[in-house]
Amino acid sequence: MGIGKNGNLPWHPIRLSNEFKHFQKMTMTPSVEGKKNVVIMGRKTWFSIPKQNRPLKNRINIVLSRELKMVPEGAHYLAPDFTSALNLLETPEFEAQADQVWVIGGSSLYKEAMESSAPRRLFVTRILKQFDCDTFIPNIDLDKFRLLPEFPGVQAGLQEENGLQYVFEVYECVEK
Ligand SMILES: NC(=O)c1ccc[n+]([C@@H]2O[C@H](COP(=O)([O-])OP(=O)(O)OC[C@H]3O[C@@H](n4cnc5c(N)ncnc54)[C@H](OP(=O)(O)O)[C@@H]3O)[C@@H](O)[C@H]2O)c1
Repeated sequence: MGIGKNGNLPWHPIRLSNEFKHFQKMTMTPSVEGKKNVVIMGRKTWFSIPKQNRPLKNRINIVLSRELKMVPEGAHYLAPDFTSALNLLETPEFEAQADQVWVIGGSSLYKEAMESSAPRRLFVTRILKQFDCDTFIPNIDLDKFRLLPEFPGVQAGLQEENGLQYVFEVYECVEK
């Protein structure tokens, strides 16, 4: 369940271009034409994105921080906690333009999203190799989340790039 090492991805400098394209496609494609998806991330995840790639294009970028007082350059919104970020999405300004909400890390935000009462899915890329990590997410509770046999737009089966094997998994919340 490792997701990071030294402010980067654990498998850095190995590049998984198709995996990145998958992330881009899934997070960028709204289900309603004309709207945009939202990405919510912690401050360290925001700054782990190379400057030239910030904000993540065609998505509304919300950064969470308890310390920052101003929206970081390039981001669209700053929120002091997860609930405030979700409340922001319920304002008329957002309701008109925002579609899917993607929580894209890091560790504490994934945990909060996994434990939240909002209906949710987990989109996981499981890398089939051990790497040293310093950032982790909680184990996926299989009483709460069910692994779907397939999901539209998500490639099934073993993937391989640069000698690294991985699988895409989608879990759906089964809790009432
Ligand atoms: N494999 C993946 O899919 C993936 C995805 C994302 C990130 N990562 C990796 O994970 C690492 C970064 O993640 P991280 O867990 O260390 O940090 P992070 O969650 O991105 O950032 C932590 C900071 O975000 C703010 N924050 C987080 N939760 C908050 C909340 N609920 N309310 C208000 N502010 C909140 C705080 O900022 P302040 O200190 O400013 O208050 C906190 O110190 C990097 O190595 C990155 O490459 C991997």
